[in-house]
Amino acid sequence: MYKIAVFVSGRGSNLLSIASEIKSGVLKAEIAVVVSNKKDCKALEFAAKENIPNYVVSNLAEEKFYVNYNELIKVFTEQKIDLIVLTGFLKKIPNELIRNYKNRIINIHPALLPSFGGKGMYGINVHKAVFDSSAKVSGPTVHFVDEIYDNGKIIDQKAVDISKVKSAEEIAEKVLKAEHQLLPEIIKRFVENKIQLTDKRVFSD
Ligand code: GRF
Repeated sequence: MYKIAVFVSGRGSNLLSIASEIKSGVLKAEIAVVVSNKKDCKALEFAAKENIPNYVVSNLAEEKFYVNYNELIKVFTEQKIDLIVLTGFLKKIPNELIRNYKNRIINIHPALLPSFGGKGMYGINVHKAVFDSSAKVSGPTVHFVDEIYDNGKIIDQKAVDISKVKSAEEIAEKVLKAEHQLLPEIIKRFVENKIQLTDKRVFSD
């Protein structure tokens, strides 16, 4: 079975959408590990309820209940994790993990990269910037993770019409719906080995 690790920071709606596609049999994969940088959050509650091994990661050694990234790498190796999926994970992924999982870490960003990305561009900040720009189209981007925030090659995007919206919150709602479709779809393409990287571009069919 294709094994994924999902990184979360809070609400976990993308985690739920992946889990529901797995339950319905559309996605032939297993969420083998859930990792959060926050101790108390809905996503971790869900993982615990579903008996998915879950970890809170931090590099602060003094915090007993946290694991550090070296310990996580060990867990991923033991579990034979195929793909790491970041869904709103708010911490920078250490380069060692990125090197260990080259082209096997993906992130979902709630705007059409390469616009509206980078440090500080998360959550409602992204949608506010999109709203203020008066852009008429937004939507999620799934991309590879490299050493720079929101910089890795784009795997796929889904355009959402925002020409009539009245607030950033409205954009957030529309984009989140599209995220819940796009991310499981992309994971499915990974499972089916349909993602191809060339020098400059990523193809998937
Ligand atoms: C999503 O909007 C995702 O695009 C962003 O963080 C949010 C996570 O939401 N990177 P959730 O925790 O999956 O509900």
